[in-house]
Amino acid sequence: MKPDYQNWAPKPMVAGLWAATAVAAILFIIFNRAGLIWALLFGAATLILLFFAAWMTALYRAFDYDGKRKLAKVIIDGTADHVHIPDGGVGLDVGCGSGALTIACAKRNPRAQMVGCDVWSGAYRTVFTKQRCEDNARAEGVTNVRFQAGNAVRLPFEDESFDVVTSNYVYHNITGVNKQDLLMETLRVLKKGGSFAIHDLMGKARYGDMDAFVKKLGSMGYRDVKLIDTTDGTFMGRREAAWLGLGHSTLLVGRK
Ligand SMILES: C[S@@+](CC[C@H](N)C(=O)[O-])C[C@H]1O[C@@H](n2cnc3c(N)ncnc32)[C@H](O)[C@@H]1O
Repeated sequence: MKPDYQNWAPKPMVAGLWAATAVAAILFIIFNRAGLIWALLFGAATLILLFFAAWMTALYRAFDYDGKRKLAKVIIDGTADHVHIPDGGVGLDVGCGSGALTIACAKRNPRAQMVGCDVWSGAYRTVFTKQRCEDNARAEGVTNVRFQAGNAVRLPFEDESFDVVTSNYVYHNITGVNKQDLLMETLRVLKKGGSFAIHDLMGKARYGDMDAFVKKLGSMGYRDVKLIDTTDGTFMGRREAAWLGLGHSTLLVGRK
């Protein structure tokens, strides 16, 4: 059996956009002669929906694990390369989706355990599930993983219970919560001496001043904290990142 990590641009979403575009185009044809207002309304709706449907299709192709670019795999593997769990230790992947990063870390650290947690609700609920994570682990022949429900806003784990924490493209999805507070909540469950590798869209508008955050962690005793711009060719180029809506992709790494 082959793992099925699904796509960050979920197929039902892409299909839904194409269906909405078709409906708008049909309404345009029907109401075209009913008056200028109707023609403008449905014409504009068709064009806007067409743009988003084409863009989501391009995203789908770029992220596709079976596609040519395989960008999701590049990013997952690149993030997992920063995850080093001591033998017998335990790592946490926050917002694990279909388990791709959890499983990639478990493969790289066979003498450690990985835990993946997610809310498995909201926009991704039909494609990312706990069952899919478990099926993917089985398909990959990986047994040193487990998955459980857990919200990044208030993780269901004791303080300092993991040797490593990691995450990929999760916190930007969480609205109405300060992103630096979310990072601190993830770091709460990290043991003293443990390391972290957190990848997300860390632009100022979402995350505030991340250089100041790095300094704050330094003043709290964290070590080797740095921000790695992954759009400098590390995972993708700047132009590709902008086009795919992945501008400001950044890896925050360091040790508590
Ligand atoms: C773009 S997907 C990334 C999934 C996975 N990290 C990966 O790299 O394939 C975003 C994930 O964040 C999860 N998520 C959103 N809000 C969350 C929250 N408050 N706590 C935990 N996970 C959350 C979603 O359910 C979804 O699985």
